[in-house]
Amino acid sequence: MITNTELEYKGNLYPNQIINFKQDVDKFYFTTENGVVLQITVLRNSALRFRYATENVFEPDFSYAISEVASRGYSSLEVDETATEYLILTSKLKVLVDKKTLRIQISDLEGNIINEDEIGFHWEENYEYGGNTVKMSKITQNAESFFGMGDKATHSNLKGKRVNNWCMDQYAYAKDQDPLYKAVPFYTGLHKNMAYGIFFDNTFRTYFDFAHEKRHVTSFWADGGEMNYYFFYGPEMSKVIMGYTNLTGTPELPPMWAMGYHQSKWSYFPESNVKALARKFRKLKIPCDALYLDIDYMDGFRCFTWDKKKFPDPKRMMAELNEDGFKTVVMIDPGIKIDKDYWVYQEAMEKGYFCKRGDGPYMKGKVWPGECNFPDFTNPEVRKWWAELYKEFMSELGVHAVWNDMNEPAVMEVPTKTAPLDTRHNYDGYPCTHRKAHNVYGMQMVRATYEGIKKYVYPKRPFVITRAAYAGTQRYSSTWTGDNVATWEHLWLANVQVQRMCMSGMSFVGSDIGGFAEQPNGELFARWIQLGVFHPFCRVHSSGDHGDQEPWSFDSDVTDIVRKFIELRYQLLPYLYTMFWKYSKYGEPMVKPLVYFDQEDPQTHFRTDEFIFGEHILVCPVQEPNSQGRRMYMPRGNWYNYWDDSMVVGGKEQWVDADIDIIPLFVKEGAIIPKFPVQQYVGELVIKQLDLEVYYKSGIENSSFYEDDQDGYEYNKGNYSYRSFKLNGKENSLAIQQFKDGDFVPSYTSFRLNLHGLPFTIESVEVDNEVVPLNQVKPNGNNVIEVVKNFTQVLIKGK
Ligand code: GLC
Repeated sequence: MITNTELEYKGNLYPNQIINFKQDVDKFYFTTENGVVLQITVLRNSALRFRYATENVFEPDFSYAISEVASRGYSSLEVDETATEYLILTSKLKVLVDKKTLRIQISDLEGNIINEDEIGFHWEENYEYGGNTVKMSKITQNAESFFGMGDKATHSNLKGKRVNNWCMDQYAYAKDQDPLYKAVPFYTGLHKNMAYGIFFDNTFRTYFDFAHEKRHVTSFWADGGEMNYYFFYGPEMSKVIMGYTNLTGTPELPPMWAMGYHQSKWSYFPESNVKALARKFRKLKIPCDALYLDIDYMDGFRCFTWDKKKFPDPKRMMAELNEDGFKTVVMIDPGIKIDKDYWVYQEAMEKGYFCKRGDGPYMKGKVWPGECNFPDFTNPEVRKWWAELYKEFMSELGVHAVWNDMNEPAVMEVPTKTAPLDTRHNYDGYPCTHRKAHNVYGMQMVRATYEGIKKYVYPKRPFVITRAAYAGTQRYSSTWTGDNVATWEHLWLANVQVQRMCMSGMSFVGSDIGGFAEQPNGELFARWIQLGVFHPFCRVHSSGDHGDQEPWSFDSDVTDIVRKFIELRYQLLPYLYTMFWKYSKYGEPMVKPLVYFDQEDPQTHFRTDEFIFGEHILVCPVQEPNSQGRRMYMPRGNWYNYWDDSMVVGGKEQWVDADIDIIPLFVKEGAIIPKFPVQQYVGELVIKQLDLEVYYKSGIENSSFYEDDQDGYEYNKGNYSYRSFKLNGKENSLAIQQFKDGDFVPSYTSFRLNLHGLPFTIESVEVDNEVVPLNQVKPNGNNVIEVVKNFTQVLIKGK
């Protein structure tokens, strides 16, 4: 235990005894003799907020992270006091506040300690910049594990690591390199089967130490601002993540095409190459929904312009691509070329929208176009202006979506790779320097972009991508993991990073498939595609300076494998879309690490490779060359091998065959998985019959299936369809009940049930209690039957 003298010696200050206590509805204030005020807010029964002021004064309460629609409300709240402590009780949590030290202990109602302060809040005055370095230290619990924290390229369990958050352009980053592009100061702790989360909502550079410096201490601190954190309790990890995601928000449903396969490169040009690329996809029958134009489409890298030599008539080109089922996504960067003859520069200059340095000059930095100025996206007026800049692109030229890059912001040829710290920002009316605004700069840029796109693609849905992000950015944008490398290690990283992002509230994420820097061989590319089709955002992108990275750039075996897996993704689109809907509505991560899936099984706490795609599909990428399979941990339960329907019993590590054209893929028994026919792009076919893959289970399993128009907003008016299925298998029967909600009428009239693992021969089929002659339901062998889509119950009996 650190003594107070030791603390003082290190220049730290810490609260002393409480001299005043006050309650104001859901807020509690504890004031110490030396002027520290702790404010505890009860947001929900299992969600609390802790804020600490020094010198008796709180900062203005403003956050970019918190969603306006975050839910509030608790059912019970009591306060008690003993000689040594105050006690706050909700229906889920007990919070003790120590009267002498202001230290906190949080336990469940049975008294199991979930989280407790070590020193708790302490701080150092910052003489250079003013304000404080604010610090919090907690006791690491026995066998505690830690997860989350955005895009950290390291083992998924953060125990023993120290990380920090400062959005950085990190070309060709290495494993364990830190920080990367995103700042998400949120983690989940797990011990004794109790999960909780801590979100430190502070935009300065933040640091987290997970029992790295001292085994028994977990701490976090920031270069400035306030000690301001949210606490979420499970005990299930799902409740923690959903609690956090509810607070920081979820995106609306994107158009379904955004979940298709996307092809990108730095850069496809001129028009003839883009058109040839599109033709090749259709010719080789490899499904694809979007093509990307990187910076070279611009005139001298000036945002919102076109290089008319490369793209003489972008409107016509994009219309023609669209005819063929391709959407065009273009890049927009934050740096605006300093050029007196350039209208965007002129406008921003006239209106005073560029960031300025501490003493007045404009902040200048070199990016692709050379010297640039940078709009202050933390100014709401600048965001409005920026949103309007998209008008021509979207509503006149027919651009479908926008990709915001370099928005950390990245600055070239300076050691810090970003804006100087004295750069000033509006911060929505709370002026500050870059120290505070840096981590939200990219988020506010993409927020402005999102607002512009949303306005100008209406009545269609917006789709936006960003590289930099702060907590809550998921409300506006999808993202990717930045400039990775074409190595096997980076395939491992892509898997871990995507899972981690999903555990950090940002599910709409993917990696540059195949690697951005350097060149993959065909084998690595094939293995990466096999993983990438199970990521919410599925795009091949590469730096283009090392040869091609299209599905056909390797030998024809690889092309066939790539096609096979992209086709699988297109078949699974209704399942993926349902996953997205659940993410959007409930904050449920689309991809789930095994620890999320089964936290009670300690084997899962240190697994990195296996993950659950949605609810019922288990995936484990092959991450080594020359493999014919791999060892993997099968989580508890019974699983069907997707490729041959053989049954695997989980709860142990085992070998799984996976030749180059196979990824280890399993379906949870009892699952019902909707599948589309293969289409070359979303909406190509009018679907006449929908496949439901039904995986027999002895017992009950629930599945769900959400549908709507795949774009637009009619679903908000009830024009959606939500089906939930309850499968109940017995020795000689299989019953499927369907519950239906919503008015959407899909194009198909019937379901084809593909029955997997049925342990009996079908003798009779009843639909809604009426026996249907077997020749009418067309049993094909023993495993396919056709039924009307709106059945309430199908009962299959046999011997
Ligand atoms: C950055 C991006 C990369 C892009 C390149 C050129 O490196 O991360 O995706 O291709 O800039 O715009």
